[in-house]
Amino acid sequence: MSVDVERGRMTSAEIVRQNREHTFFSWSVQGAIDPIAIDHAEGVWLFTPEGRRILDFNSQLMSVNIGHGDRRVIDAITEQATKLQFVQPAFATEVRGRLGAKLAEIMPGDLDKVFFTLGGAEAVENALKLARHYTGRYKVLARYRAYHGATMGAMTLTGDPRRWANEPGLVGVVRYPDTHRWGEKEPRPVEESLQGLEDVIRYEGPHTIAAIFLETIVGTNGILIPPDGYLQGVREICDRYGILMVADEVMAGFGRTGKWFAVENWGVVPDLMTMAKGLTSSYLPLGAVAMRHHIAEKFESMMFYGGLTYSSHPVSLAASLATIRVYEEDGLVERAARLGPVMRQHHEQLAARHPSVGTHRNIGLFGILDLVRRHEPYTPLTPFNGTSDEMKAVGRFLRENGLYTMISNNSIHTNPPLCISEAELATGFEIIDRALEIADRAVEG
Ligand SMILES: Cc1ncc(COP(=O)(O)O)c(C=O)c1O
Repeated sequence: MSVDVERGRMTSAEIVRQNREHTFFSWSVQGAIDPIAIDHAEGVWLFTPEGRRILDFNSQLMSVNIGHGDRRVIDAITEQATKLQFVQPAFATEVRGRLGAKLAEIMPGDLDKVFFTLGGAEAVENALKLARHYTGRYKVLARYRAYHGATMGAMTLTGDPRRWANEPGLVGVVRYPDTHRWGEKEPRPVEESLQGLEDVIRYEGPHTIAAIFLETIVGTNGILIPPDGYLQGVREICDRYGILMVADEVMAGFGRTGKWFAVENWGVVPDLMTMAKGLTSSYLPLGAVAMRHHIAEKFESMMFYGGLTYSSHPVSLAASLATIRVYEEDGLVERAARLGPVMRQHHEQLAARHPSVGTHRNIGLFGILDLVRRHEPYTPLTPFNGTSDEMKAVGRFLRENGLYTMISNNSIHTNPPLCISEAELATGFEIIDRALEIADRAVEG
């Protein structure tokens, strides 16, 4: 039977069946998946083929920061695709220069040059290469509670359990202590975390270490916001030992925290900074690694051994330029800053009403609720890297009641597009409010 490749009107059931039969899904036991079919999306809303509305409370993968269906970006993509679809990356294009200059303008400090990739993991891979080439050293330090992508190098840097099945990875990746221990409510004292990092540097030998990688704010491992002084301390240690500081802003960048980049919340300028996701608001695939001036300078006379057929793809770059214009025209970065306290108030109200809320965190519109079985001693509602019947029931409730978000371990993420209205934000938290009644029934003591 021939396959009809024309766009037709398929039902959700037909779409899911064909997707499942012939395509492979990420991070899944293929037989256990149950995807929702989406036909189109607008603002903070996803629509199924049957017209059911779902509130996107996670901006997909914390990435559709400007919201869905923005005509300004769609038109820019169309215009660029009409004019020039592709030239290989050795050519120069207007859109490439303009985006490079725009990024140099909005990035902190003297980060003023970028290498374009297709997504976050490749940005991390190339940061790793740049750091090794620049320093001539090969070791890199990374943390356990971290996700840096699913390519082999980025997977080795990733400390969370997604790494296990992909080991062994790169040689030379060494772990240093996290700011937050799993299952604890508060972060470690800053001095203790920094001392732990310095111990690792001493034992490994500073002259062998090219870079220290970190997510400025840890994303999928729990929106772990570093305590004040931590990032400044890492910066100081890097300077003292001549080690490059690499901030992974793939998730935390582009307005999510109420600043263009999360490092700005602590006045820190990393040597290399990775980005993706919000760079195009996911309208097209694009990532980048940015470098400070002195690093770029060294490559003026030194070969860079790295490249990608689709580096600097003109249509993705046009999507990015238009996306940045949307952040600016609509004041979305400022909007995230303004809505941060509104989200915190919702979190606080839920914590006051529901014994299952153990703690909550947010910075701008980057937020999370951690659910517990007990407050004393503090006991998460799930084991590490696991789930529980109650957590699954909470997830089912949200799905059946029209709210999409990320649930990982014992946490409910609250990361809507930055264009969300206060009324839409309240709608999302009202659905979560009802879901938490399920979790409350599991609370002991
Ligand atoms: C902090 C961070 N770095 C890197 C990545 C990998 O990005 P990509 O999936 O675009 O390769 C992600 C993806 O979630 C991320 O959150």
